Amino acid sequence: MIQKLEQSQSLVIAGHRGFKSAYPENTLLSFKEALALGVGMLEFDLRLTKDGVVVVLHDETVDRTTNGTGPVGEYTLDELQNLDAGGWFDKAYAGLQVPTLDELCELLSDYPELLLNVEIKPSRTAREVTDQAIMTLEKFGHLSRCVFTSFDAAVLDYLYDAYGAKTQGFEAGAMSNFDHSENGTYSKMWAIAFPMKALTAEKVRAAQQKGLLAWGYCPDTAEEVAYAKSCGVTLVTCNDPRPALEAAGQLVK
Ligand code: G3P
Ligand code: CA
Repeated sequence: MIQKLEQSQSLVIAGHRGFKSAYPENTLLSFKEALALGVGMLEFDLRLTKDGVVVVLHDETVDRTTNGTGPVGEYTLDELQNLDAGGWFDKAYAGLQVPTLDELCELLSDYPELLLNVEIKPSRTAREVTDQAIMTLEKFGHLSRCVFTSFDAAVLDYLYDAYGAKTQGFEAGAMSNFDHSENGTYSKMWAIAFPMKALTAEKVRAAQQKGLLAWGYCPDTAEEVAYAKSCGVTLVTCNDPRPALEAAGQLVK
């Protein structure tokens, strides 16, 4: 199902960590609110707890997005879910929890057409996160609608070699463990994403000539969306998906 991105006629709009500009990122509320806008894809980040549970959280530590401190990997799931993952953003959202991948997968079951961009964050446990994520997404029947992203080329390698997964990477300079050889990282990438500050029409053309899908993140204003489209990207990942949805005539509310 994710293969339909190869043929998509209209711009595909993904919610970055849900609806990141208006809700606490990577929470179920943030994902629900992005879905209510009408996004065609959700992007989210995965890490592992101390007791080996895959959770949806961006940073290596809990400091920025919860009321706790220290590495995610030093928290058991119970301890992590006792932290407040919403109050840091606005006290109106105090009490939200860091979701597990299982909890997010349950929500996604209600949206069978939605595509998923699953980011495995670089860490010592990235391979374990990958194995568990694949198993969980398979268990819920979501695997065929996933593309997997990582800034660590070794993780993309593993996803491609062990699972034949569709992968999204970045320019060589933005990744660790990048292999420049002919059968290296680019040969295992299906899509490449450019941050707005690095996005140009020339780079998009060059990527497409290599056979890669070329995507942009995060155009959050009408002007940025227009620029991303003028560069030729076919998918945008947005902190605020409303301007892109509006421009595409896809905004639901
Ligand atoms: O697809 C690009 C997006 O995932 C960027 O990742 O982790 O910097 O939000 P991040
Ligand atoms: Ca991400």
